[in-house]
Amino acid sequence: MSKAFQLDVNGSQWAVEADPKTPLLYILRNDLALNGPKFGCGLGECGACSILVDGRAVRACTIPLSAVGSRCVTTLEGLGDGDNLHPVQQAFIDAAAAQCGYCLNGMIIATVALLQQNPSPSEADIREALRHNLCRCGTHIEILAAVRGAVELSQADLRNEAARKVARMSGGATETLERPQ
Ligand code: FES
Repeated sequence: MSKAFQLDVNGSQWAVEADPKTPLLYILRNDLALNGPKFGCGLGECGACSILVDGRAVRACTIPLSAVGSRCVTTLEGLGDGDNLHPVQQAFIDAAAAQCGYCLNGMIIATVALLQQNPSPSEADIREALRHNLCRCGTHIEILAAVRGAVELSQADLRNEAARKVARMSGGATETLERPQ
């Protein structure tokens, strides 16, 4: 039997009516037209459907709608700010990390979650964070390069933000912003 739910997705409120057991992935793709999360295995194994819930990477194919509550859901579409890609998205483009592209949603979401918890991950940390995300094309070398690039871009972003703060506090002195090559 259908019930009414209010969801917080990508900073917007959405009213949906569905069976409480419906996997969140179906709601995101079919009701909200958010096709970043992909349907791969439907069993929580491949990671293609990954999303962030309160900043943690989870598999949308195994979360029933009734379990979401008031938590903040972020999909691939919600990572950038509208005009600019998220640094992790940019890093994956820079590294040409896509082959068929089906796994990229999960790889990017896992990387964003990793960098939120650990801004300076070691190679072992990166491999551990992506260990449960499957890529059938075998583009793991490029994906690892993309994550390393994302670490550099994110750290440059943090340094730029600190420079902006200092500039604001010192009355708007000229700031030099950097972007890794
Ligand atoms: Fe959800 Fe594979 S589709 S983990």
